[in-house]
Amino acid sequence: MKRSLKAFIFDLDGVITDTAEFHYQAWKRLAAEEGIPFTRKDNEELRGVSRERSLELVLAGREYTAEEKKLLMDRKNQYYKELITTITPDDLLPGVADLIKKLKENGYKLALASASKNAKTVIKNLELEEVFEYIADGYSVQNSKPAPDLFLFTANKIGVSPENCAVFEDARSGVEAALAANMLAVGIGPAERVGIADYVYETMADVDLDEILGERE
Ligand code: BG6
Ligand code: MG
Repeated sequence: MKRSLKAFIFDLDGVITDTAEFHYQAWKRLAAEEGIPFTRKDNEELRGVSRERSLELVLAGREYTAEEKKLLMDRKNQYYKELITTITPDDLLPGVADLIKKLKENGYKLALASASKNAKTVIKNLELEEVFEYIADGYSVQNSKPAPDLFLFTANKIGVSPENCAVFEDARSGVEAALAANMLAVGIGPAERVGIADYVYETMADVDLDEILGERE
C-alpha cells in the first residue's frame, strides 16, 4: 500500500531501551518468592502485555484472590521501579539516537505509545522528554495492545491520520495493535515474534529508514 508517512510512533520497552529485561527481572523475583517457575522463555509472552495480563500469565492458573493479585502487582512494580532508577541516557538501545535524529531532521512528528504506567519515568531518565510531541502511556486508554486503541489515541493527539503513521514495536501484541490501527508496522526482533509486521529488523540498529520510506508516495 502507498502511504504518505508523517509520523513515527515508538513503543518504549524493548524498542528505545532494554526495559524488557528489567520487567523480566522484576517478575522473576516475584515468581521466585511465590515459588512459581518463570523462565526467560515464559517472559517472551509478556512483552507489550499489560501488568494485569502479565500477572495472569505468570500465575498460570494458580488461585489468588483479587486483593492478593493487587498486592503481587504492587510488589512487582516496586521491584521494577527500583531497577529503572539506574537508567541513564547511556541506556538507549544502539541505533535509537541516530534514528530519532534522522526522523527529526526530515520533519517527521514523533510520539511515544507505551503500555507502561512507568513510561514517563523511563523517558525522563533517558532525557528524551523534549523529543516526543506526545507521550501516551499505561494510563491513556482502557483497552491495551493488541487492541489498536493506544495507537489511535496517540495519532489523534498529534493530529495525524492512522494511515500516515508508522510504529516501531518489539512485541507481537504491539505489532498486531499497529496493524489493527491501519498503521505501518515495523517489527523489532525475531520473525517468530514480529514476523507479521510490514518490515522486520532484528534490532533498532538494523532499521533501514530508506527502505521504510520507500513507501512514500
Ligand atoms: C509494556 C511492557 O511496555 O508495559 C510489558 O512491554 C509491561 O512487559 C507493560 O507489562 C506494563 O508496564 P507497567 O510498567 O505499567 O507495569
Ligand atoms: Mg515493547
